[in-house]
Amino acid sequence: MKESLERPLTALTGAGISAESGVPTFRGQAGLWRDYSPHELATPDAFNRNPELVWAWYAWRRETIAGCRPNPAHRTLVDMEESLKNFTLITQNVDGLHQAAGSKRVIELHGSIWRLVCTGCRYVGDDKRVPLPDLPPRCQICGGVLRPDVIWFGESLRREVLDAAWRVAAQSKVMLVIGTSAVVEPAASLPLVAQRAGARLIEFNPDTTPMSRHADQVFREPAGKALPRWWAETRGCWAL
Ligand code: OAD
Repeated sequence: MKESLERPLTALTGAGISAESGVPTFRGQAGLWRDYSPHELATPDAFNRNPELVWAWYAWRRETIAGCRPNPAHRTLVDMEESLKNFTLITQNVDGLHQAAGSKRVIELHGSIWRLVCTGCRYVGDDKRVPLPDLPPRCQICGGVLRPDVIWFGESLRREVLDAAWRVAAQSKVMLVIGTSAVVEPAASLPLVAQRAGARLIEFNPDTTPMSRHADQVFREPAGKALPRWWAETRGCWAL
């Protein structure tokens, strides 16, 4: 078993890991995309057409998330980061709950709802105020309209972020795929990149996803329950 000590462990998370914290997911029964249209709220065109509407939705999401706390699944990933020599967390989430739990090194594929970027001068800065005093918020430097620093439909991921995630995936020996419907690219391809390079895939999701048939092991349970248990049972196999 000690042979596995230095093997890189990677976790890829999606909205489902924050579901038990009270953050709505995007798909499924109570998913945001059932009641809201991504085309009206999460595209550059939508923002150019109606920044007030897009900002009203993001302000509501910031308020919702601000009232949520990390759950045992988030905290388990913090323990992995603190305990393992070779662990990387990649997330599609913009909610900041991994960092709130204590994760220090997080590859945020889709950005952060707590960071704003100026559509004029491209200034980027953290802003955790809830509520924001003005909507849409304005840039302190140039007066331009600020937008959330998140990836919208039709936009590309940042090159350096995607490259880092791809590299980590290709070097993984085990990838935990936690709480993602695995339908949004390029994130959905990362587990397959890892698997092609020889990694084992372990899925934590109460529902079946397109990733399920590729997974070597599947836990059909809420991540807050299954992930701490899996870690308690296997941590002895990893380099501490
Ligand atoms: P989705 O909402 O598409 O999927 C959430 C997944 O979490 C589903 O497969 C659920 O079955 C699962 N789930 C629900 N509760 C869970 C729990 N307690 N434990 C574990 N899993 C649970 O969210 P993502 O896959 O993250 O992109 O969505 C990917 C991207 O689509 C998001 O980052 C966002 C969205 O549009 C952008 O905004 C660019």
